[in-house]
Amino acid sequence: MSATLEQFARDCRAILQTDHGPNGRQKIRAQLEKLLRDPQFVEATVTEKTPERHILYEDPDLGFCILAHNYSSAKTSPPHDHGPSWAIYGQAKGETEMTDYARVADPADGKPGKAKPLRTYKLTPGVAHVYNEKDLHSPTRNGPTRLIRLEGLNMDRIKRDKFEAV
Ligand SMILES: [Fe+2]
Repeated sequence: MSATLEQFARDCRAILQTDHGPNGRQKIRAQLEKLLRDPQFVEATVTEKTPERHILYEDPDLGFCILAHNYSSAKTSPPHDHGPSWAIYGQAKGETEMTDYARVADPADGKPGKAKPLRTYKLTPGVAHVYNEKDLHSPTRNGPTRLIRLEGLNMDRIKRDKFEAV
């Protein structure tokens, strides 16, 4: 881990220990945007060798994770939330077209939930966005992208609900 990344992890920890709610996450988002605008940090943190999902740091006490993502091809993900977790998407390279949704129906009886699109916007390099618990969203990429993301909890260990757009 670079010294900058270590410092960022310490800062995130201090922020979340004081305020683990949406305000704390906005403070982390602002710090992440500063880092995303530092080309040296970006080049050192997410490279062409980075896999699609790579955990850079997982906090042993608070559970939050800092991740690097290197995507090589276009893809549209279905609407989803992160269950009990929040997430912060930080765009390092390329563009993500994000759609936010209203929750029309929760998943029930093995059927996916329903989500109605509200707005679509672009995450461009240097931009980070907070998704709080239950905020439904779907990212689309039209080409290669690189992101630095945070998860409130490591999503490898959390089962995701399915939603369909209506
Ligand atoms: Fe997501």
